[in-house]
Amino acid sequence: MALPTRVKIVEVGPRDGLQNEAATIPTDIKLTLIDMLGAAGISTIEATAFVSPKWVPQMADQSDVMRGLKRRPHVTYPALVPNMKGFEAALEAGCEEIAVFTAASESFCKKNINCSIDESFDRFAPVIEAALDRNMKVRGYISCVLGCPYEGEIKPPAVAEVARRLHQMGCYEISLGDTIGVGTPLAAKKMVEAVARLVPLKHLAAHFHDTYGQAMANLFAVMELGIATIDSSIAGLGGCPYAKGASGNVATEDVVYMLQGMGRETGVDLNKLIDASAYISGYLKRPISSKVAIAMLAKRG
Ligand code: HMG
Ligand code: MG
Repeated sequence: MALPTRVKIVEVGPRDGLQNEAATIPTDIKLTLIDMLGAAGISTIEATAFVSPKWVPQMADQSDVMRGLKRRPHVTYPALVPNMKGFEAALEAGCEEIAVFTAASESFCKKNINCSIDESFDRFAPVIEAALDRNMKVRGYISCVLGCPYEGEIKPPAVAEVARRLHQMGCYEISLGDTIGVGTPLAAKKMVEAVARLVPLKHLAAHFHDTYGQAMANLFAVMELGIATIDSSIAGLGGCPYAKGASGNVATEDVVYMLQGMGRETGVDLNKLIDASAYISGYLKRPISSKVAIAMLAKRG
């Protein structure tokens, strides 16, 4: 078993987690959450998305979030950027790392960003170029890598080809998104194996939603292949507005607990993570979907 000794957690709760909330969450609540995640030792916290407020109203305060960050040394605060308009706004707000996003499914791409996969590349080619010119790192996301809400099955070679194009354009990391959480461990392995034939494993990340309760098993399966970067969301918050019924990402608390139990390094303080989980769940008045957080909070009394 070749599990990586150190695993990087990319916390996506403030963006992927909160983007789906119907009620407007005040900017200061988002900033406090982000600060608590930084205090817990998370080194990459996706802070917001420079997308259209008509499409995702919850991210309308993107510039205020980016400007309001109490930046910690050794923590990066990337943001999603779909086009040049978003990139310019991100730059102006002081954003230092961006992520572009597309899909392995044409139908999902159209619903999510209103264009085909090819057109999405046309849109973010200048974004990537402008970012790299400024020495900014660019991450690339692919949605629907293990299934699509509109097209059903997605074949691994289709995912691999999109990953290859993102990597070739200069994305330092490609995050493989099981947007609707339908994957199972052997399918996740097959998909990663197909992608790794075209993009070296060290440039790949797993971004698994937990809709069908498979995310932890899927993560273990792909870590066995060498995946050492995991996207997760505090308290298991979230979902995608353009994937009906999709629940949140795998909970960060659960991932960190599993990794610590297996003696893998994460640099994260689980107790402080639980504080962040309790904070945001308390604000949202929502039961926490992380089993680890539920157990640890019950123990605290
Ligand atoms: P469009 O309507 O095709 O774009 O949307 P457009 O260029 O025709 O512009 C339409 C209007 O939006 C114009 O305003 C633009 O100015 C404005 P109007 O003239 O009507 O007043 N606009 C913008 N405003 C702010 N920021 C911008 C921007 N761009 C245009 N950047 C667009 C195209 C991409 C903008 C839209 O489809 C969009 O914002 N989509 C965002 C969808 C989204 O955020 N989805 C969730 C994140 S992805 C995800 O969750 C998956 C992931 O987690 C991985 C996984 O789990 O699979 C990453
Ligand atoms: Mg997602």
